[in-house]
Amino acid sequence: MALHPSLEPVAALIGTWRGPGRGEYPTITSFEYTEDVTFTDVGKPFLHYVQRTQSPEGAPMHTETGFLRVSAEGIVEFVLAQPTGQTELAEGALEAGPDGFSCELRSRVMNSGSAKAVEGTVRRLDLTGDTLTTTFAMAAVGVPMTHHLSSELRRV
Ligand code: HEM
Repeated sequence: MALHPSLEPVAALIGTWRGPGRGEYPTITSFEYTEDVTFTDVGKPFLHYVQRTQSPEGAPMHTETGFLRVSAEGIVEFVLAQPTGQTELAEGALEAGPDGFSCELRSRVMNSGSAKAVEGTVRRLDLTGDTLTTTFAMAAVGVPMTHHLSSELRRV
């Protein structure tokens, strides 16, 4: 099954990634976690994304799922859902790097459902060879855009 041509710029994401992460926010106690991310090609012009995290003791933490596609203009569109009812549509341009790419995705549409209010997010993906570094900032619970998460994942 051939990869849809629109996905060629992000083809290196396809697969499973795992590694440590760290979270913080002005309103909470900092924490550490292990993150697993999978991007799957299903033969359509989007990748299916699943993320799961675990505490150092092995307890399940945050999880989210969604779809990533690349528009005709070369803009990455990432639509995400969380079990609490949070949904997010984020967009950003791809910047080619020496052995991969970077992409800063900014939320365009947010819905917090009955979960704590998140007004906006900035997600960064930096892919270099077999290392995927992620960072996540949010404007939430009355705090302006502030760092919440970073992780360094390796291809497994
Ligand atoms: C708070 C973990 C991703 C939004 C927290 C807390 C933890 C945590 C442990 C503190 C829980 C508490 O005391 O209530 C994680 C992990 C993530 C993740 C492991 C993924 C790696 C996200 C994402 C969003 C988000 C993607 C939003 C889109 C929030 C909000 C709070 C929070 C709104 C509440 C802050 C407050 O009550 O002051 N997160 N989180 N988190 N997180 Fe995350």
